[in-house]
Amino acid sequence: MEVQIKEMIIQDYEEIFAMWQITSKRALSKADDKKEITCYLNRNKGMSQVAVVAGRIVGTVLAGHDGRRGFIHHMAVLPQYRRHGIARKLATTAIARIEEDGIDKTHIFTYKDNSLGQAFWSSLGFIQRNDLFVYSFDNKL
Ligand SMILES: CC(C)(COP(=O)(O)OP(=O)(O)OC[C@H]1O[C@@H](n2cnc3c(N)ncnc32)[C@H](O)[C@@H]1OP(=O)(O)O)[C@@H](O)C(=O)NCCC(=O)NCCS
Repeated sequence: MEVQIKEMIIQDYEEIFAMWQITSKRALSKADDKKEITCYLNRNKGMSQVAVVAGRIVGTVLAGHDGRRGFIHHMAVLPQYRRHGIARKLATTAIARIEEDGIDKTHIFTYKDNSLGQAFWSSLGFIQRNDLFVYSFDNKL
């Protein structure tokens, strides 16, 4: 199977969002609307990637950093294309882009019951942190 890793562009948003409905439904929020993804891609130019097989987007990774730490979201591959190393290619490309900006550590979030995601990130050498909680706040003061 020939897989191409390409920069994610907003023109592909509809195809990507349709893919996320299959792979990542639980993780989707208003932050994934077209306006917000446009903003994300503009702020983190060239970092997010898609995997293309025979002209179809079959995998995604959103990648960026805040000037201090890298963050990866929506690491996903369509079910019928899994276990061919596509996610590994996407993730390593994204991490290389983050590293090129001088950032030396990247964080990911995964649901506690997502054993698939955990197996994947562990296989890449990501270490599970047991010393942290994630706290979130809706910015409406
Ligand atoms: C997690 C996900 C992105 C992996 O995609 P993938 O293209 O199949 O992953 P790869 O083929 O690159 O796998 C790389 C390594 O990860 C590990 N891995 C991947 N899937 C695994 C599974 N089902 N069980 C155990 N280990 C697995 C293996 O070590 C694998 O290497 P190997 O195939 O040589 O054994 C994909 O399963 C997915 O989209 N899941 C739903 C969305 C999701 O949960 N994303 C993660 C959010 S944190």
